[in-house]
Amino acid sequence: MYTCICNAIRECDLRKAARQYDGNAETVYAKLGKRPQCGNCLDEADDVIREEREALIDPAFAA
Ligand code: FES
Repeated sequence: MYTCICNAIRECDLRKAARQYDGNAETVYAKLGKRPQCGNCLDEADDVIREEREALIDPAFAA
């Protein structure tokens, strides 16, 4: 499933990047060589990133 349609960023790739890089969605997108276009995905992307990092701290949060 894609989190960001404009940049074809899949949720699984975003989760992997969230574990590798600090910062919010825009920062993580930049690390992937992308940048927001329409911006509609950013709230959801921030939620995915936060969820993934919480799961790193406590696996009980894993989706
Ligand atoms: S859906 Fe991510 S920038 Fe448009």
